[in-house]
Amino acid sequence: MELSAALKVALLSSLLLSAVKSAEDFNDTLNLRQKSHVAGLCAQLIEPAGFPCSEHNAQTKDGFVLGLQRVSSSSGILRRQMGPPVLLIHGLFMAGDAWFLDTPNQSLGFILANRGFDVWVGNVRGTRWCHGHISLSEKDKKFWDWSWQEYALYDLQEMIRYVYTVTNSRVFVIGYSQGTIISLAAFTEPDTVQMVGAAALLCPITYLNHMTARLPLRLVKMHLTQVLLAVGIHELNFKSDWGTRIMEMMCDRHVDCGDLLSSITGKNCCFNSSRIDFYLEYEPHPSSTKNLNHLFQMIRKGTFAKYDYGFWKNLKHYGQLKPPKFDLSQIPSSLPLWMGYGGNDALADVTDLQHTLKELQSKPDLLYLENYGHLDFLLSTRAKEDVYDKMLAFFDSLGTHSSY
Ligand SMILES: *[C@@H]1O[C@H](CO)[C@@H](O)[C@H](O)[C@H]1NC(C)=O
Ligand SMILES: *[C@@H]1O[C@H](CO)[C@@H](O)[C@H](O)[C@H]1NC(C)=O
Ligand SMILES: *[C@@H]1O[C@H](CO)[C@@H](O)[C@H](O)[C@H]1NC(C)=O
Repeated sequence: MELSAALKVALLSSLLLSAVKSAEDFNDTLNLRQKSHVAGLCAQLIEPAGFPCSEHNAQTKDGFVLGLQRVSSSSGILRRQMGPPVLLIHGLFMAGDAWFLDTPNQSLGFILANRGFDVWVGNVRGTRWCHGHISLSEKDKKFWDWSWQEYALYDLQEMIRYVYTVTNSRVFVIGYSQGTIISLAAFTEPDTVQMVGAAALLCPITYLNHMTARLPLRLVKMHLTQVLLAVGIHELNFKSDWGTRIMEMMCDRHVDCGDLLSSITGKNCCFNSSRIDFYLEYEPHPSSTKNLNHLFQMIRKGTFAKYDYGFWKNLKHYGQLKPPKFDLSQIPSSLPLWMGYGGNDALADVTDLQHTLKELQSKPDLLYLENYGHLDFLLSTRAKEDVYDKMLAFFDSLGTHSSY
């Protein structure tokens, strides 16, 4: 069954609005309309800041063509002595632009490049920096038939392999939020993790059953994703015509956009809300309904496992009634890990992180910031001093340990 665009708007907005209770006025005109993304991420955001940047493509085993960007220092001297490769993996409804949204002194992508790292910017399937599929069109239902499981086992694996092959060096991986889910899932695969030199995870997530974020919990309770799948909405694009209208309705008339963000991420201490308009020129990026459904399954069931199709279909997909779990103890204890997490993070809950840590063989270096919410780790105006300098000290401490 295919619904008309008008019906989709009506359905989604009534579902979402009933989930949003706060009702402050918000009168700013928002930059929700899609910018023309003819130029790539390098040309739009990175080169204008004075950083050399080149576009690369990596094709996944199941036919998606992913865009990757390679960024180096804005200072010519550093550029010639390229440091170790670092691959950045963004969060849900984001893409590689998320690492470059503030000034060169504040944004992790720029900071790493100016510190001499060979910075590689990852973008998963479905985002606007992905160049589609070799045979499927975005209009096909099959184009959107994946979840973070495929981000991990196809996209991230392919991006790591690409960077490893080009640079001939093991790769440092930095993940944020959903980027940590897919990193940890991918690291359970021996073929992938052997190409990784170390990893730094911001707001690390594997288990989600203690998360306290108000809006997502309401949407889980409403069975939003199952409803969407049942009526044939497979792509979640808040910059499509109907998505834009829903966002405008939610942000303009019914709720403050900053409040909306807190109800999803928890209270952020150091996020500059006067920049929301600029952020919305780039975010949110599309994802699939199936992916959101997979995340909602984790919230309901408290498992870190593959997508659950229901008993009989699981049998067909996996040869067993329950989806196979990702076994964190498979991640080699020799892999150096660093994690930054916050006391006000409503998505990456501290109890869930304890669960993750118990299952890992190694003891990661931990940075705990009591007042930090989920977005602060990416967009805090003080993230450099609070978080990134400490992450860089971790990478420095590895010295020649990693083969670069
Ligand atoms: C929003 O706009 C309305 C009418 O234009 C105005 O009365 C109201 O004060 C505005 N609210 C805010 C918070 O600016
Ligand atoms: C960025 O940091 C550098 C070095 O710390 C400093 O010299 C420069 O003035 C800063 N730039 C801005 C715009 O703050
Ligand atoms: C917050 O954002 C505004 C608008 O971009 C900017 O002028 C201001 O300097 C930012 N504040 C901080 C602390 O970065």
